[in-house]
Amino acid sequence: MGRIFVGATCHWNWEIRSVWPALSIEYNASEFRLLATETRGGRMGGDLAARLVTARRFTERLCRPLAIEDFVVQAMPDASPTRWHLAHTTWFFETFVLACWEAGYQPLSADYQFLFNSYYNRVGEQFPRSQRGLLTRPTVAEVFAYRHAVDERMTKLLASREDADLAQVVELGIQHEQQHQELILTDIKYLLGCNPLAPVYRQSGETITPGSPKPAHWKAFAGGIVSIGHAGPDFSFDNERPRHQVLLRPFELHDRLVTAGEYLEFMQDGGYLRPELWLSLGWSTVREHAWHAPLYWVEREGQWCEFTLGGMRSVRPEVPVTHVSYFEADAYARWRGARLPTEVEWERAAAEVPIEGSFAESDHLHPGVAGDRREGLAQLFGEVWQWTQSPYTPYPGYVPPEGALGEYNGKFMCNQFVLRGGSCATPASHIRATYRNFFPPEARWQFSGIRLARDGRAASS
Ligand SMILES: [Fe+2]
Repeated sequence: MGRIFVGATCHWNWEIRSVWPALSIEYNASEFRLLATETRGGRMGGDLAARLVTARRFTERLCRPLAIEDFVVQAMPDASPTRWHLAHTTWFFETFVLACWEAGYQPLSADYQFLFNSYYNRVGEQFPRSQRGLLTRPTVAEVFAYRHAVDERMTKLLASREDADLAQVVELGIQHEQQHQELILTDIKYLLGCNPLAPVYRQSGETITPGSPKPAHWKAFAGGIVSIGHAGPDFSFDNERPRHQVLLRPFELHDRLVTAGEYLEFMQDGGYLRPELWLSLGWSTVREHAWHAPLYWVEREGQWCEFTLGGMRSVRPEVPVTHVSYFEADAYARWRGARLPTEVEWERAAAEVPIEGSFAESDHLHPGVAGDRREGLAQLFGEVWQWTQSPYTPYPGYVPPEGALGEYNGKFMCNQFVLRGGSCATPASHIRATYRNFFPPEARWQFSGIRLARDGRAASS
């Protein structure tokens, strides 16, 4: 993404004025069209303008199960209201594309520049993140109108301009839209999960496979000098570059994810009550928040249940455990006499694995049971993000892009850990082996889970 360029003609300092007309568009879920099938089960195809339309429609498809009240409430500072996600992703295209490439562009609302800027200090001041749920205006209908107005102008722009720099930023905007699609799902799950009525977002289309998966087996990998990171012309975020060499010691990975049933054994063995299993900061976090199970797990009459986007249901021991923090993943691994993989180990293993699994398009919206692994690794992609023990730091030679978009990733490279592989809430076309997600070690509201690793027993395998 080093070629991302934000032109000097951008209107960063829009005048304070209101050009937003009074709108009386009623929210009507039936008006949302179902996503065409371009993103289903594989990489996005088609030209840039078509992929942009597809991505924008998919975002609105995710809103279809919501009641109007669900759009506005913010359940915690880290989880934004859906209405804010809808507006912010639109702001991104308006700010970084239309304001830069559309001749004489006039913003739809100067107020939106402030309200829906997430964290770009070079663009301007931002409305406090923790207070996004206090905004009852603009209304949901106005935000949808904002989206559609910007979409219309984006379509016209892309039909009239061919520019490599423009295409790069539009591609970034599509990828950004997809990141917020996942956040819409995880944030709405957190919101609905706070409600004692346990509202159903959408009934799962999951086909339940009875029985437990086969026991996990270790797969050995040789040590040596390996290359990780993204190279080539295809899109990647800046934090995946440059591709570089790393010395890797022999290691082993479990061939599937840790299941809920296995995690329950940890709990039943007093896992949350034994300080010797925890990092110091993890133990203080467990005590501070009185954690005794993964997020969304509740015990009812001796039976563990968990809240899902399909409502409350019994914990299925055969599916991967999810909504655990880095601290819980680390403690579980220690209890098993193992450890979490490094991101280098994970990427070395994933480089040869096809991108298959449950993603946001699958309608499951919950991790599924591992299939037949034979000699390979299962559940590398989709299902749950896998915590690694690697701090989120820049790769050797990393240079953030120039301009405001340099704030996209680089300034967050502190006090967070890398997660790999995507989840059941990640759009399938969004993930790749070099993708680096990152969250603080105490974060639990993402679909985050565990794959075990250990040092190799031989110099090679
Ligand atoms: Fe964003």
